[in-house]
Amino acid sequence: MTAQRDGDAGGGAAVELQGVTVGFVSRRVLTGVTLRVPRGGRLGIIGPAAGGKSVLLKVIAGLLRPDAGAVRVLGHDLAAAREREVAAVRRRVGMLFQNYALFDFLSVGDNVAFPLVHGGAPPEGIEARVAARLRGVGLAGSERKLPSELSGGMKKRVGIARATVARPELALYDEPTAGLDPVTTSKIYDLLRADQAETGGTCVVVSSDVAAVAGFADTIAMLHDGRVRWVGPAAALFDADDPLVRSFARGEEREGAAVLARAVAIEPPGAGVWS
Ligand SMILES: Nc1ncnc2c1ncn2[C@@H]1O[C@H](COP(=O)(O)OP(=O)(O)OP(=O)(O)O)[C@@H](O)[C@H]1O
Ligand SMILES: [Mg+2]
Repeated sequence: MTAQRDGDAGGGAAVELQGVTVGFVSRRVLTGVTLRVPRGGRLGIIGPAAGGKSVLLKVIAGLLRPDAGAVRVLGHDLAAAREREVAAVRRRVGMLFQNYALFDFLSVGDNVAFPLVHGGAPPEGIEARVAARLRGVGLAGSERKLPSELSGGMKKRVGIARATVARPELALYDEPTAGLDPVTTSKIYDLLRADQAETGGTCVVVSSDVAAVAGFADTIAMLHDGRVRWVGPAAALFDADDPLVRSFARGEEREGAAVLARAVAIEPPGAGVWS
C-alpha cells in the first residue's frame, strides 16, 4: 500500500504534465507536452533519438524546470515549488539515468545504498537490502567492486538496483534494457513487474526496445519532435491509426526510417571534437 504523504491530495495521478515546454539556448526540445500517469500506472515512452525523452524524464524527476507548463508529481507542483520541496519529492522518486550516472568513486554496494543512506533508512537493515537488490538484478556479491570494473550492462543493472532499492513511489527508467541481451531484458522487466506488484508504485519507462516496453507498460506515449504524437493502450500501439506511429513501432522501413532521418537531421551540427 502506498502511504499518503504530506502535501498529497491522495489518489489521482502520480504524474500530471500540462503544456510542458523546454528549450535550450535557441532550440526547443519539448513543446506543450501533456501526459497523465495514474498512481500504480505503467507508462512507456518511445520515439526517435533526440526527441526529448530523457529531457522529459528529468522534468518529471524534478531535475529540470520547464520554461512553461505545469508539472505535478506525487501531489506537488514542481514547476512552482521551492528547491527544498522539490528535493523532498525527489527522495520519493527513483531514477535510472540513461548513462547510469553511477558515482565512480563509490563501490557498487555504496552506490546502491546511497538512496537508503540519504533517505534516512535504519542503518542496520541497509546491507541486507543492498544485497537483496543486487541479487534481484543478477549481481549478487558484487558490493565491493568499483563501477570501472563493470561492463556497460552491469552498470545499467547497478543503476536499476540503486533506483529501486528504496522502494520509491515513482520509478523512472531511462533505457533500462539498452545493451542487455534478451534473457536479461526479460528478467529486468520481471523484476520491475514484481517491484510494482509489491509496492503499488508508478513506473515511467523510456525505451528504444519498443516490443519489450509495450509488453510491460499499460500505456504508451510516443514523442516526436518534442511533442506527444500518440498516447494509447500499449496493446493498440502496433495497429495505431497514425501511420507514422505504426511504422515506427513496427520498425518498418519507409515511414519509420523517415522519422529517424528527420530526428537526426534536426540535431545541430556538432562542434566536431575530431575536427
Ligand atoms: N542540457 C542540455 N543542454 C542543451 N541541449 C540539451 C540538453 N539536454 C538535452 N539537450 C538536447 O535536447 C534534445 C533531446 O535530448 P534527449 O536526451 O531528451 O533525447 P532522447 O529522446 O532521450 O534521445 P535518445 O533516444 O538518443 O536518448 C537533443 O537535441 C539534445 O541535444
Ligand atoms: Mg535519451
